[in-house]
Amino acid sequence: MEKQSLLKTLTQAGIGSRRKMSVAIKEGRVSINGEVVTGFNSPVTKGKDRIVLNGKQLDIKAKSFVCLKLNKPKGILSTTKDERGRRTIIDILPRKYRHLYLYPVGRLDKNSTGLLLLTNNGDLAYRLTHPRFEKEKEYEVQIQCELNINEIHRLEAGIKLEDGKTAPATVKKLRDSDYNYAITIHEGRKHQVRRMFISIGHRVIKLKRVRIGNVKLGNLKEGQVKEVSRNLLE
Ligand code: URA
Repeated sequence: MEKQSLLKTLTQAGIGSRRKMSVAIKEGRVSINGEVVTGFNSPVTKGKDRIVLNGKQLDIKAKSFVCLKLNKPKGILSTTKDERGRRTIIDILPRKYRHLYLYPVGRLDKNSTGLLLLTNNGDLAYRLTHPRFEKEKEYEVQIQCELNINEIHRLEAGIKLEDGKTAPATVKKLRDSDYNYAITIHEGRKHQVRRMFISIGHRVIKLKRVRIGNVKLGNLKEGQVKEVSRNLLE
């Protein structure tokens, strides 16, 4: 039977992100066949080895992997819980998906809308967010006035932000829409699009994500979800 690393096995098990699973291993909360292990690469044979996390045995084969796209409405937090009791994506998920330990892939500001991917597969979340895999993200923005050619060039060439220069982007003018520009970026820094526009003197009034890699928001209405097929996620 095929062996794979403990970290990979846990991140595929649909019980938490790669980061959470790494912390659990480091903190000695995982055992294989009764022995606590702290190495991410400890070999595991699925269906044979007994893995216990936080005192509970995992049934690795029983989980189903899901990836959903959600059109996040404004005002909803893209987290699974909030200490201040504000509404999160879990509060708006249809009941049939609530027991699957889904969590968001990347983030979208509270005031932004649009495409948010949710999964219970840590491996997939890692591949979609890690800069090494460079998934394009396309946003539509509404600003108060037109950009001039120089401002478009600055956005496209990269803007110096306090956490470093942004990677090259593309900017397109939109017509017949509430939103006046589409911008495609390759990173996922906090408030990145808003900060890029602010640094050239424009406040973003509305921001909507419409694509991540090959996955498009399409005509999904705010608050609606749809399962995403595997081949779009490669
Ligand atoms: N950039 C932002 O500024 N906000 C988002 O929610 C996503 C990208």
